[in-house]
Parts: sequence; structure tokens; C-alpha cells
Amino acid sequence: MKYLLANWKMYLREKEAVALAKLARGSKWPKSASFVAFPSAFHVTSVRKALGRLGVGVQDVGPAEYGAWTGENSAAEAVRLKARYALVGHSERRAAGEDNALVGKKFAAALKAGLIPVLCVGETEEERKSEKMIDAVLEQIESALRAAGQELAGTSFMVAYEPVWAIGTGNAAQPEDAAEMHLVIRKQLAMLLGEFGREVPIVYGGSVDAENAGQYLALPSVDGLLVGGASTKAESLKALIRVICS
Ligand code: PGA
Repeated sequence: MKYLLANWKMYLREKEAVALAKLARGSKWPKSASFVAFPSAFHVTSVRKALGRLGVGVQDVGPAEYGAWTGENSAAEAVRLKARYALVGHSERRAAGEDNALVGKKFAAALKAGLIPVLCVGETEEERKSEKMIDAVLEQIESALRAAGQELAGTSFMVAYEPVWAIGTGNAAQPEDAAEMHLVIRKQLAMLLGEFGREVPIVYGGSVDAENAGQYLALPSVDGLLVGGASTKAESLKALIRVICS
């Protein structure tokens, strides 16, 4: 299975999001490809309706189920709106102050609610330059899994490897660098989770577009793509869908 995860961030008005969802729905999806849109939380219901049987997720969830958390969105309420996935730990949220401890709580909250969390991990440019990228990424994964603890049993989740310096910059990772990190992540998941860890999809993200998508999808260690900018315009989304479905 190859996944196309479309992170629409805060780019779109509701009408635009619904139009893109209809475009995705109108494409012919083979069994080997799967689409999930991550619209603004305000658009989940209308986008889900427009997507039909394609997947919808939220871009973040709060660390608690309910309570005094102004501005946060409960994972349980996302489930009520029929979202199935949730990004957690996206680099834009980490840049706004989320640390591994908070991301771990969000990851656990998403699992507990029955969502499929997409745990976003990736090193900064500094960490890559100082060759600390593997440590940084493994720590992000380990701390989330630690926080989830028993919540992991019988659930599923995904990992998105998105080097921070590649997101929204047009400077996508070299496919061999992405492949190397995906293998490191896979090894770590298998070590920590055994057989279950071998099944967790690992997708790449960071300046993916229809032109470079095929290079990543050709890598056996890459189970799909998390795409921001290029998934927010009809023409480039159509082109991406063509690549993922081919
Ligand atoms: P980008 O964003 O494709 O615009 O680089 C990816 C992401 O933030 O998930």
C-alpha cells in the first residue's frame, strides 16, 4: 500500500478544500493506493462528505480528552466527526513550542480515542550538519512510544519522516538520505515493537511534488508521502494522484 497524505495546513478556504476533496474522490483509486486529506479542523465535516470513502484526518489533537484546554481539539470529538487519522508532532507545531513530552501525550490521546496517529518526526538543519539527526529522530519516536505505553496494544499508527529543513523550502531530501532514515526508523520500530513494528507505514514528507514523488515511491522503505504545498492546488494534486496511482 502506498499512501498519499495531503496536509492542507491553513492554506485553504472551506470551498477550496471541498473542491480538492471532490477532485480526489473523482480519481480512480487502485487498491494499492490510499488517500487521506488533513483539512483544517473547521472543514472536517464538509471535506469528509466530499471525500466519500477516502480518508480524512485532523492536523493535531489536544493532549487530554476533555477539559480546560482553550484552543485545543479533542481527539474524541474528531472521531465523532468521523476523522480517522491525526497528525501529531508536525514540525510547525514543534516550532511553536511542542516538545517530545507533549507530542507523546498527543500521540497517546489520539490512540486512546481510536484515531490512527501519524507521528511526524525529523531533524533540524543543525542536527543534520552536526550528524545528530539519527539520535534526534530516534528520540522523537521513542518518547512517543513510551508515552503511549499500553495504549499501543491493538492499534495502528504511522510515522512521517519530514526533515525540518525540507518542509516548505523546495529543498527535498535526497532519496538516498530519506531511504537511509526510513531504514533506521524501521529498525527502531521493529526493535521496540517486534512484529507490529514491521507493519507500521513510514512515509516521507518535505517539498514533495509530482516531479520528485516517483523517486521516493520507488524506494522499498517508503510507504507513501506526506505532502503540504503541492497538495493544495488542483493541478499539482491531480499530478500527485496520477503518480501515486500509477
Ligand atoms: P511541504 O509540507 O510539502 O509543503 O514541504 C510538508 C508538510 O509540512 O507536511
